[in-house]
Amino acid sequence: MNESKLTEIIEKYGSDTHAVVAILQDIQEEFNYLPKDVLMKLSEETNVPLSRILSVATFYKAFSLIPKGKYPIHVCLGTACHVRGGARLMEKIERQLGIKRGNTTEDLNFSLDEVRCLGCCGLAPVMMVGKDIHGKLSASKAVSILDQYKK
Ligand code: FES
Repeated sequence: MNESKLTEIIEKYGSDTHAVVAILQDIQEEFNYLPKDVLMKLSEETNVPLSRILSVATFYKAFSLIPKGKYPIHVCLGTACHVRGGARLMEKIERQLGIKRGNTTEDLNFSLDEVRCLGCCGLAPVMMVGKDIHGKLSASKAVSILDQYKK
């Protein structure tokens, strides 16, 4: 664990114990997930009970207690994307990566999740890789896009 990074994050929020969500966001951003040892240290440093930290961490979908991939993939299965083949796209990506949605590849390169709308239905079907939106996808186009992230 990078203790100095955690200290830096905690210091940023001072003694405001109500800042748990913001602190967890920073930890998630830094480590790509919420490592257990970091949460224990956070509890020690802030005197916020670990049980409270864990209840916040499990309440918000944006947080993950398991390692996420360097490139999180979100495949949209909202109505517009579903109609235009979102489910087939998801299945193709699952096969290609060798994981089911909700999981992370062994090399920690990709994690795969579904979302219900990315707000760009005109581009359906859509997936987001990291912060990049890719639209009007075919299965083969999606696979070649993911290949580019591997490089
Ligand atoms: S339904 Fe997929 S972007 Fe809106």
